[in-house]
Amino acid sequence: MCGIVGYIGKREALPILMDGLKRLEYRGYDSAGFSVANGDRIVTEKAVGKVAELENKINEKDIPGNLGIAHTRWATHGKPSERNAHPHRDCSKKIFLVHNGIIENYKELKHDLEKAGHKFSSETDTEVLAHLIEEYSKQVPFEEAVWRTLAHVRGTYGLAIIDRENPQKLIIARNGSPLVLGVMDDGYVIASDVAPIVRYTDRVIYLDDGEMAEVTGQSCKITNFKRKKVKKEISKIDWSVEEAEKKGYPHFMLKEIMEQPEAVENSIRGRLVVGEGIAKLGGLRDVSERLRRLKRLVIVSCGTSYYAGLVGKYMLEEYAGVRTDVEHASEFRYRKPLLDENTAVLAISQSGETADTLAAIREAKNKGAITLGIVNVVGSTIARETDAGVYNHAGPEIGVASTKAFTSQLSILALLTLFLGRQREMSFVMGKRIAEELAEIPKLMKSVLNQADEIKKVAEKYSKYSNFLYLGRKYNYPIAMEGALKIKEISYVHAEGYPFGEMKHGPIALIDKNFPTMAIATKDSVYEKTLSGIQEVKARSGKVIAIATKGDREIQKMVDDVIYIPKTLEMLTPLLSVVPLQLFAYHFAVGKGLDVDKPRNLAKSVTVE
Ligand code: G6P
Repeated sequence: MCGIVGYIGKREALPILMDGLKRLEYRGYDSAGFSVANGDRIVTEKAVGKVAELENKINEKDIPGNLGIAHTRWATHGKPSERNAHPHRDCSKKIFLVHNGIIENYKELKHDLEKAGHKFSSETDTEVLAHLIEEYSKQVPFEEAVWRTLAHVRGTYGLAIIDRENPQKLIIARNGSPLVLGVMDDGYVIASDVAPIVRYTDRVIYLDDGEMAEVTGQSCKITNFKRKKVKKEISKIDWSVEEAEKKGYPHFMLKEIMEQPEAVENSIRGRLVVGEGIAKLGGLRDVSERLRRLKRLVIVSCGTSYYAGLVGKYMLEEYAGVRTDVEHASEFRYRKPLLDENTAVLAISQSGETADTLAAIREAKNKGAITLGIVNVVGSTIARETDAGVYNHAGPEIGVASTKAFTSQLSILALLTLFLGRQREMSFVMGKRIAEELAEIPKLMKSVLNQADEIKKVAEKYSKYSNFLYLGRKYNYPIAMEGALKIKEISYVHAEGYPFGEMKHGPIALIDKNFPTMAIATKDSVYEKTLSGIQEVKARSGKVIAIATKGDREIQKMVDDVIYIPKTLEMLTPLLSVVPLQLFAYHFAVGKGLDVDKPRNLAKSVTVE
């Protein structure tokens, strides 16, 4: 949700900014811009659309300078246009800034500033910041003017600011939107996440809320909003540059789908003790005794991570005996959640920065619940703010539509089930069985991925349809929802995910020969019921594509197309059944010529509520 990048040091800023924007583009891509300072001369360029448009516009123009800021936008206030693209500036074209977040009280501030004679050139909330800094700069130095401005602002921000009169300084500040400072040998690169930083350095400082840094080419001073200097730890990034590249795949999404066996392998590595039927989760060690007394788990998450949570509910209740509720994070904080010290609130988040999920965790903390996280991005806000947690280790996920993070989340939830289950009544035999089957999943996933060509053909066959129903029961009900979400997100066709049994209470009215159904019909405890549901669809002339268990010849006679997945433990089936749905959505969208990595209107990391 908007990406910002900045550089100060000995190198040319522009190439670092442009490369950074491309790597941050998954956070927003409706317009982009930069400002580069060369002494007291600041050059700003902006373009509507993706970063490539900005690149075309500057067309190898020589824009020298060792200090710069840049932004790729996901519009909140004001439609995508050059006027609304960042960087924004003050009246005197002295202060330039980029912002990720929302200034909630911008209307009042704008009103007052206009009364004082300031002329605004955009419809954004961000622009008030530049004018406020300008206003304060009349009385106090640049840094102090930024402090005073931030004291007046309500809302969230990751900010990078430059001032024509201070050409050796970059000021950054954070409140609610992520900011990472990369420490290079000859300067500093700052960004909304580590993606633009990793190719220059693996040493980073994660800014916390309420912190501001004054960065020069040689040093950086970090202070909190009480104006106290804070000593920050330098962390090491564990992602490599290669991991964040496409490696010859046409899209990140396909690369990430194909990487799932490896991602799951990495998620379970060293954590599964098959012989003892247990899971060792180092990140939960400190809270292990509290978890033993736990009566209830509330999972909060958004989007694909929410569907992972729903699968988790089935696992945790059936095998660990822990009552589990799953909530959209955005709803959780506005209800009156009933929490106590025997409740844990678990945030599931790939990015670790989703504003709704973060807010839910903060609310849970206020209510005294223990907070846990399943997070992929190391050092992200949710990872740092939860009491304990488990990292996914799935590697960077760049495609906006989540794939490998999802299956990795499912594998961590299976580990958590084992962990909590073995603290409770789960037998050694059952623990061992789950551990053995989970260890096999990466291999089984590969066999599903080997059918990518056949799945592509099925996607081509259905390319003319513009409505789909996705149905599944029990563990595969959330997978039906996730499958529908995938195709919606990247193909812009209408798809509904439903529990199979609910079909007869509404969606069945939609079914005719033009409304195909994707039915997840694996051989499990609800197989017979699922077959009856398929008959009901067929009786209404609906076309059916089934995801079925290898060896099931019966189903072939009932449906139009079948994609087979191998047999595994029922609770682990989602790790396999989702894969054909991801590939189906991918090929369906690519067949339409769409940019699957950057679907319209979406952003990978949604840092606004
Ligand atoms: C956005 C993304 C989704 C993602 C959701 C939650 O909506 O487009 O792919 O599932 O955010 O993100 P998180 O990082 O918290 O898992």
